[in-house]
Amino acid sequence: MLIWITAPSKSPINSSFSLKSGAPLISRFVPRKKMIRIREEQPQDIKAIRKVNIRAFGQTQEANLVGKLRQNCNHLLSLVALMENQVVGHILFSPATVEVEHGTVLGMGLAPMAVLPEYQRRGIGSELIRSGIVRLTSRRCPFVIVLGHAHYYPRFGFEPASRHGIRSEWEVPVDTFMILVLDESAMQGTSGMAKYRPEFAEIM
Ligand SMILES: CC(C)(COP(=O)(O)OP(=O)(O)OC[C@H]1O[C@@H](n2cnc3c(N)ncnc32)[C@H](O)[C@@H]1OP(=O)(O)O)[C@@H](O)C(=O)NCCC(=O)NCCS
Repeated sequence: MLIWITAPSKSPINSSFSLKSGAPLISRFVPRKKMIRIREEQPQDIKAIRKVNIRAFGQTQEANLVGKLRQNCNHLLSLVALMENQVVGHILFSPATVEVEHGTVLGMGLAPMAVLPEYQRRGIGSELIRSGIVRLTSRRCPFVIVLGHAHYYPRFGFEPASRHGIRSEWEVPVDTFMILVLDESAMQGTSGMAKYRPEFAEIM
């Protein structure tokens, strides 16, 4: 199942933030006394990331989407969760926009996120989200959007995007389309339609 789709935006991008790699973060989460390490994707992780997505979703669409985004977009934040050097989880953030009256504000969209079934419900997904938020905050990303379960994402600070006058381009239940505002001043007065990368449309 996927979540987000989008169409290409032709609007100029007004807001920019650094998407350069940061230093690896060590998670404080220790499930069953084993350390989880979160770090950015490296070339040797690509096969394992595909496997994690296929196993978590039970289909290849999300894994294919990750591959296409990796191929087409230089500004991804792709994190893996490692346990004993094995990739057990993955999260991807890709550029997303909010179209406003005089242009476009650039932020990031969260999707997909996947944890190997046998490692789920141990907090690994939460650690991937938190680590992503820390990194994007330090890169001065103004917002992150997500389309997902309304009881899960608010614990990380997400709230209905409708509170900010920001809407999805698709008809989705209003409480499932959420935003995390990381830079209040950059987002001041920003409202309009949010869009994800066009690759998302292909898997819907
Ligand atoms: C979603 C996912 C990445 C969460 O990873 P995780 O390591 O299990 O997450 P955590 O242990 O940090 O958090 C578990 C919480 O997520 C909730 N959760 C997990 N998957 C959920 C889902 N599909 N729907 C609703 N809630 C979900 C659980 O209910 C649990 O909530 P609780 O803490 O209130 O009990 C993982 O379950 C997964 O890979 N699912 C299949 C792929 C998927 O649906 N990805 C999300 C859409 S991109």
